[in-house]
Amino acid sequence: MQTTEAGFEKLGAEYLQDPHAVHERLREVGPVSELVLPRGLKVWVVTRHEEARIALSDPRFSKNFAAAGDLFGKHLQPGVARREFDQSFASHMLNMDPPDHTRMRKLVNKAFTARRMEALRPRIQEITDRLLDEMEGRSEVDLLDALAFPLPITVICELLDVPLDQRDDFRIWSGTLLTDSTQEEINEAAASMYAFLAGLIQSKRENPGDDIFSALVHASEDDDRLNEAELISMAFLLLVAGHETTVNLIGNGVLGLLRNPDQLALLLADRSLLGNAVEEFLRIDGPINMATFRYTAEEAELGGVTIPAEEFVLVSLLSANRDPEKFPEPAKMDITRATGGHVAFGHGIHFCLGAPLARLEGAVAIGSLLDRFDLDLAGEPSQALKWKDSTLLHGLERFPISLSPRG
Ligand code: HEM
Repeated sequence: MQTTEAGFEKLGAEYLQDPHAVHERLREVGPVSELVLPRGLKVWVVTRHEEARIALSDPRFSKNFAAAGDLFGKHLQPGVARREFDQSFASHMLNMDPPDHTRMRKLVNKAFTARRMEALRPRIQEITDRLLDEMEGRSEVDLLDALAFPLPITVICELLDVPLDQRDDFRIWSGTLLTDSTQEEINEAAASMYAFLAGLIQSKRENPGDDIFSALVHASEDDDRLNEAELISMAFLLLVAGHETTVNLIGNGVLGLLRNPDQLALLLADRSLLGNAVEEFLRIDGPINMATFRYTAEEAELGGVTIPAEEFVLVSLLSANRDPEKFPEPAKMDITRATGGHVAFGHGIHFCLGAPLARLEGAVAIGSLLDRFDLDLAGEPSQALKWKDSTLLHGLERFPISLSPRG
């Protein structure tokens, strides 16, 4: 454990490779801890389940960064270079409180209902089957490259009617923007991403279709319900949120099964458990560690801790989902357990718009993969596996598996 000059514990690189042990210790100390993140930002991290639900849904914890002032300047540790994340993508609903949040969310809510997503099942199955066909005959693949990444990005691109040819570039840009990268890398990725999104919007203006982006362009032009910055930001949010997370549901879920052969055997014996197994994967090793930033607009008390005004508050979804007060024996994977109330998709008005889609993709991908192949981790876990350097995303950077056709 490292401490800063001001005496706060600093989360280091080893935390990103194994956050659970640190969370367990922090939960025992209290529901909220004052910490410094690996990249040098001082924040309050909520680690227990009850307080996490409050912080995620209580308006005292604001997301209206347009009104916040320079909180990054205030909370970066001395000597840490500030890295700007391009503001061109920041005017989206995940950075807004009502009424702006309500206005933005209304525009897309209907497009992502569980019923609409269920109608996509045959197409999701088709894309999955094609990806699995490509794995046929190979004895080793990286599961992220072969399935976990291409499935959700293909689905979200089709849903939004976005050409797939820049899919790999897009993966690199969004990876750079969401994980620890240098300012130069961020600038370059942000400029390319901006040009890509602006071009996309222009093409929808010229040739509107029946897709969600065309509807959003219409909402900005004819009804004046979105300004240009909001339009670009919404496009960014839907595309990035639509794939950076689901890739980790598939990756972390499969890894969980390989680490727990008894649970894998149970699932193979009884496929009706698949839906609940996906919920357990989300609970025990969800795709997001710390939810997106919130801050105290004024002094706020949470779980007996007083947080002054203008402080960053981060909720660790990963930690809340392993709170033993809520989930007994939380580190034990049990695909039959009651998973209700997990916060992997957040809670309150910002609850994940894409949850029905992500659940469906996770179930189709993992179920179909198990139908076709016997799997194993290729190599020594400590050598083969590497987690992303990110406090936001909890997912593998590489995941080599060996496979053989199921007999
Ligand atoms: C919001 C998780 C997949 C779109 C959120 C939030 C979480 C989350 C935790 C709330 C963040 C916060 O309150 O700070 C996940 C996980 C996914 C996933 C774990 C996959 C397993 C998707 C997909 C889409 C999507 C496929 C596709 C459209 C969004 C949007 C928001 C959001 C638009 C913002 C909602 C708002 O502010 O009202 N997601 N997500 N997500 N997610 Fe997801």
